[in-house]
Amino acid sequence: MANKAKFQAIKGTRDLLPPETELWNRVEQTAREVFGTFGFGEIRPPIFEPTELFARAVGGETDIVSKEMYSFEDARGDLQEMREMIRNYALPATDEHWTNAFLGLLRNFQTRLEAGIRSGEVEHHQEAHAFYDYFSQGITHFQAELSHGVETNKPEIDRTFRLLKLAVAGVTLGPSVCLRPEATASVCRAYIEHGMQQWPAPVKLYYMGPMFRRERPQKGRYRQFYQIGAEVLGGTDAPGIDAEVIEMVMAFFGRLELQGAQLEINSIGHSAPNCRRGYVEKLKAALVEVKDKLGADSQRRIATNPLRVLDSKLEHEQAIIEKLPRIADSLCDDCKSYYAEVKRQLDLRGVAYRENWRLVRGLDYYMRTTFEITAQGLGSQNAVCGGGRYDGLVELLGGPPTKGIGFAIGEDRLILSLQEAGGGTATGRDVYIAWMGEKAQATAIAAARKLREAGLRVELPPVEQKFGKALGQADKLGAKFALILGEDEVASREWTVKRLADGTQEKVNGEAVVEFLKRKK
Ligand code: HAM
Repeated sequence: MANKAKFQAIKGTRDLLPPETELWNRVEQTAREVFGTFGFGEIRPPIFEPTELFARAVGGETDIVSKEMYSFEDARGDLQEMREMIRNYALPATDEHWTNAFLGLLRNFQTRLEAGIRSGEVEHHQEAHAFYDYFSQGITHFQAELSHGVETNKPEIDRTFRLLKLAVAGVTLGPSVCLRPEATASVCRAYIEHGMQQWPAPVKLYYMGPMFRRERPQKGRYRQFYQIGAEVLGGTDAPGIDAEVIEMVMAFFGRLELQGAQLEINSIGHSAPNCRRGYVEKLKAALVEVKDKLGADSQRRIATNPLRVLDSKLEHEQAIIEKLPRIADSLCDDCKSYYAEVKRQLDLRGVAYRENWRLVRGLDYYMRTTFEITAQGLGSQNAVCGGGRYDGLVELLGGPPTKGIGFAIGEDRLILSLQEAGGGTATGRDVYIAWMGEKAQATAIAAARKLREAGLRVELPPVEQKFGKALGQADKLGAKFALILGEDEVASREWTVKRLADGTQEKVNGEAVVEFLKRKK
């Protein structure tokens, strides 16, 4: 029973607890094994990155960047407090005492800031410098105005005061960083930073770990959630790579016996006037025609991101969307034949798919192939995996022209789906050792060590307890076997092994018990 504690996990975050974490570990271990067989190696990028990285890669108009990122200025301490005081200073600008006090505060801040920049405490960048200069000039100006006396110069002083408060807001004390909302941008950043274009191509990387998006929490949607993802960077963009990446996810899901995994694919072309850009214009024109029938979100998106209108789940918009122009009719010849080849390559691999012309994905970096996989038992948040090709991304981030494709699996959703299908019940222990008597304890300790060395999960009670109580405890823990060690067993070296599921028991020689339990496990 959960207690109403003083401190609780932050909304949209949660503790993952045993025995469920056993399933998480199994899923992650399986990913490592399967991805390894496809030649992928693990990358572990940091959890926070420059905010600008995602703004650039994922796109400023996307929900992720415009509404959901946990970003903050990476600065602490007295400088920040002083800046806040200046920002919030509410003075009657006409009172000489107040204005002088404000000037003192400005001067202190300025001196402290300059020292901070010199010592490197303030992580200074070029753009911020213009603001420091502007702010410093403002102070000089303010002081000059004050020197003529507050009474004679009220409107000017008041104006400069307001401007200074505005200017200080632009004085940054550190870079803007954010908790990563996804990891494709991080992987591309790392690819460039470590000169991976020199590595044998293609570079195949996988990652797993927490991501952060400030979404409205619901079943299968969290603010801290976990992804298992993979990216293929560099080398060729042969459609066989797209198909193999998808084959790998499906093989992974197959190994986990995920139920009802449905793959949907699409091509969103490339950003040229005779391809996607032309389509977006057509789509925009068609959307303007039906604008009045659309909801507020879709209306806004006509201007900012018309493709995203196709993502709408609103009931009353569905019939309208079905009549909109479709991208397949606007793809250029290259993208058309590329898409046809991806499908052929999927067929070659026996990977079943459904085409969905509305699958545009919510991140800006995609081109050509996009795909999503849904699974059972998840309600409205049923996408367990999303991915696609992003050939221009590395270049957009300042690297060389590089082909790229990848996906990310929502691990929380994957686990939920496995649990709903009954695949998540993990037992806690293999063996519970019930012992009584001093001699039996010594034997029990030695037996526990041997069993653990053999990889079995063993519970050894630290104090003696009656066999009845011990067996009750073993039951509660979900142990498969109880190993019973009393004086008789120790003396005869014939130990009692009880199978808890049906209560049957047999005598096993102490020497053979590890082998016996390993076999039965
Ligand atoms: P995405 O579609 O934003 O793509 O996320 C991939 C998957 O992460 C989703 O299908 C979903 O299962 C899971 N997910 C997303 N948000 C949440 C949330 N708030 N709570 C729980 N699960 C969530 C990407 O992130 C791309 N980086 C994928 C990619 C990699 N494309 C190319 N390479």
